[in-house]
Amino acid sequence: MNVLLFGPPGVGKGTQGQRLAREVGIVHLAMGDLLREAVRQGTEAGKKAKAYMDAGELVPDELVVRMIEDRIHNVQGFLLDGFPRNVAQARALDAMLDRQGLHLDAIVFMDASEETLLERLTGRLICRACGFGFHRHYSPPKIPGVCDQCGGELYQREDDREDVIADRLRVYREQTAPLLSYYRNRPVFGMVDANGGADEVYEKLLRMVKQADG
Ligand code: AP5
Repeated sequence: MNVLLFGPPGVGKGTQGQRLAREVGIVHLAMGDLLREAVRQGTEAGKKAKAYMDAGELVPDELVVRMIEDRIHNVQGFLLDGFPRNVAQARALDAMLDRQGLHLDAIVFMDASEETLLERLTGRLICRACGFGFHRHYSPPKIPGVCDQCGGELYQREDDREDVIADRLRVYREQTAPLLSYYRNRPVFGMVDANGGADEVYEKLLRMVKQADG
């Protein structure tokens, strides 16, 4: 199965995408994680991407398109999270899927109120070692500052500061929200209200994806 999840920053794409991909048995391709890993490793792509990411702006299309095409080519079944993020990237995705004889089985738009998004982003904590995500209030670690999974140190993302979040939400409204018109008339399109608790949202998503799988 090939699944696409899209929606605003903090809506839960990463949290749900990771769980869903594991259950369905496909690879979770999260553009933000791929970019942060490139920054951490100091690759050419990472060096170019860093300033855009710190400012909450989109990284240039050609860079992310190249990164994702390499990945899609090498996996059997994927869940895309954070790509595409504008209409030009969506067109590039359609073209690369065509070239590889692939298609999307489910396209899911997740949405939540701006108040919910802010609360989720400002409270998010991530493990430096294994990347597992927590939330100060909704899913706190057992020991403050320490990852339950691997004992690694938890940190707050640079772009989860309130001033950068405001820019990310603006970029979302201007560049990513138009994807809704791009995808909404496709037969495999669906929408999920992601304001509820993580398990509730997950059940809705899973139902939708299983239906798409026939
Ligand atoms: P990226 O990492 O993709 O950030 P994002 O889209 O802004 O999404 P987030 O990771 O912030 O949120 P999420 O929806 O995954 O929420 P999460 O599950 O973590 O991108 C970062 C940057 O990289 C971009 O700004 C851009 O610069 C660049 N970039 C990435 N892709 C690009 C592209 N295609 N083109 C160009 N540039 C690109 O949840 C958030 C928190 O809420 C967590 O703490 C979680 O535990 C909690 N939570 C989640 N769901 C629930 C729930 N239902 N109830 C309670 N808590 C919940």
